[in-house]
Amino acid sequence: MENFTYYNPTKLIFGKGQLDKLKEEVPQYGSKVLVVYGGGSIKRNGLYDQVLAYLADMNAEVFELSGVEPNPRVTTARKGINICKQEGIEFLLAVGGGSTIDCTKAIATGAKTDEDIWDIVTKKAEANDALPFGTVLTLAATGSEMNAGSVITNWETNEKHGWGTPYTFPKFSILDPVHTYSVPRNQTVYGIVDMMSHVLEHYFHHTPNTLLQDRMCEGALQTVMETAPKLLEDPENYDYRATIMYNGTMALNGMFNMGYHGDWATHNLEHAVSAVHDIPHGGGLAILFPNWMKYSLDENVERFKQLAVRVFDIDPEGKSDRETALQGIEKLRAFWDSIGAPSRLADYDINEDSIDEMAQKTVIARPEYGNFNKLNIEDSKAIFRASL
Ligand code: NZQ
Ligand code: ZN
Repeated sequence: MENFTYYNPTKLIFGKGQLDKLKEEVPQYGSKVLVVYGGGSIKRNGLYDQVLAYLADMNAEVFELSGVEPNPRVTTARKGINICKQEGIEFLLAVGGGSTIDCTKAIATGAKTDEDIWDIVTKKAEANDALPFGTVLTLAATGSEMNAGSVITNWETNEKHGWGTPYTFPKFSILDPVHTYSVPRNQTVYGIVDMMSHVLEHYFHHTPNTLLQDRMCEGALQTVMETAPKLLEDPENYDYRATIMYNGTMALNGMFNMGYHGDWATHNLEHAVSAVHDIPHGGGLAILFPNWMKYSLDENVERFKQLAVRVFDIDPEGKSDRETALQGIEKLRAFWDSIGAPSRLADYDINEDSIDEMAQKTVIARPEYGNFNKLNIEDSKAIFRASL
């Protein structure tokens, strides 16, 4: 295990009826509030009215930025930054999924600097502050509700980059599983794939003696696989939604990955695909992860074998380590197929023609990426080709 410092200042407020806590939380940060949300799901399920009623009760002066896109655009963040600067916004409230929260992080950061937010996303400029913000999560997937990361897309240059600062942790996040009842089946599946992928990204590393971390990751994967099929059969079951929501947060709030660095190449590959084709993040991961795994197997077969035996119940008896490992990967593929996740880039009409462009996007930030298996542009092409 490597040395580490763990710090996570986000107050997590979880459970039925917890939206009520807005009354205590928001007034701590100011009364001029910018509410940020997406394409309208919160209007259809009634959450918008509830949030606005709480803000009216506290006499907040409310401004709104709606229309945050899935794969949020830097142009939308800039709109929000202008509102903050013109109106003297004191606090931001994100109501939505990872895209809305990520965009809010960009707005909160851009509001406190003269630098363009894209320069901060691409690390050409540094952020030294951000407006305070809170979140009301409506989709279990990214973990953005309890981490400082954000992923922003520039549609003019077809780039999608992850970034984060010490100032972009939400002050609080309200997670009421009931708010996720209305998430459609496909988005529920993408969220499940995304949270499993976060755990898998952690899992592939070369640091010795991470016994508890391994077991936490394996437990999270097993819990999601046990719960997901039941949830898809019964989407308004509180317990299933709660289990998945808690799992999504834990998968990327730093708890499972203390003392080592996970791989994260597959996320880089997926961001490159989304940057060119604007596909759902979880859909892209479902296609790419098993192919990255097959490509990276020989980096450390033992690690893949451990996953296969402990999580996918593969019996290693009479098999080589490689065979056991491969069967584990096939079982992951089969599980994602069983819940209706996509398995080929062709499912999104992506073909041979864009492999070079997507591969080039994987190395914009650095020529090599991935901590477990170092990849370059040729490796990207090979993994994309295997995913066609
Ligand atoms: O926009 P609205 O109308 O709200 O609809 C959304 C959107 O169409 C809908 N939705 C959300 N909650 C709903 C709902 N529909 C009905 N009922 C509800 N309760 O779902 C659609 C997808 O929403 P989005 O926020 O885009 O999904 P997700 O949470 O999966 O976020 C994806 C984005 O997060 C980034 C991804 O790359 C992508 O840009 N990521 C962010 C990370 C982070 N900040 O830590 C890590 C992740 O690995 C990921 O890269
Ligand atoms: Zn992800």
